[in-house]
Amino acid sequence: MTITERRVEPEVLDSLDPQDPRAVRSRRDLRRVHRAMRSLPILKRAIAGLALEAPPRRILELGAGDGSLMLRVARSFGSRWTNVELTLLDQADVVDAETREEYRRLGWSITFQCTDVFAWASEPRGIPYDLCIANLFLHHFSDVSLAHLLEAVANRTRAFVACEPRRDRFSRWSSRCVGLIGGNSVTREDAVKSVDAGFNGRELSDCWPAADGAWAVKEDRAFPFTHCFVAVHERASAS
Ligand SMILES: C[S@@+](CC[C@H](N)C(=O)[O-])C[C@H]1O[C@@H](n2cnc3c(N)ncnc32)[C@H](O)[C@@H]1O
Repeated sequence: MTITERRVEPEVLDSLDPQDPRAVRSRRDLRRVHRAMRSLPILKRAIAGLALEAPPRRILELGAGDGSLMLRVARSFGSRWTNVELTLLDQADVVDAETREEYRRLGWSITFQCTDVFAWASEPRGIPYDLCIANLFLHHFSDVSLAHLLEAVANRTRAFVACEPRRDRFSRWSSRCVGLIGGNSVTREDAVKSVDAGFNGRELSDCWPAADGAWAVKEDRAFPFTHCFVAVHERASAS
């Protein structure tokens, strides 16, 4: 059962200095949250479902955080995806040396772009990315800001996958139990806010720019707590 209105409130993690011990701990908690949400298999299935004509060479992750989830994606596609140029974008530079080294070991080159995503959205367009990913990120923004952001995304990539909190009663109830997997006070508060700001129905499709009919878009629940949105441009799709 869904919760009617989205409610977007500033999250605690975004207001803390990245070096603040509570922020460091909360980012570590997120790795456990990914496991509880089944983020990796959901992302992998969504990416595979894009049926891309060719393996992506240029990939962008928006709101990448510590880059650890994308690293797990990289490990699972690594042997099939070679010479990947990955850009990790986040307002906080929290990708540690070990994670960067792991990417390099896989043969992926990484660039970290430490910027506000709306500054990125206002930059002139460059060569389009083959794939753009966002995980637990879009829900930070109001519908108006999202429409602006997604327009920039559609102009800069050929395929897009977003995995966000599903806004329903089950996720809301579960978000109140994040303490059971060791979440600190920041993670516990942000988990509840994230679900209230999450998505259901066709909310992300409605924010996606409709002008270009060359995009196929799909969104749905991904059990247990995720709302997954995918968009693929006809030029990128094999089907
Ligand atoms: C909930 S965390 C998710 C991080 C990562 N995607 C993951 O799943 O572990 C949200 C991330 O979005 C970043 N963020 C929030 N607002 C942002 C903005 N306006 N521009 C760039 N990054 C932003 C935060 O710094 C944080 O790393």
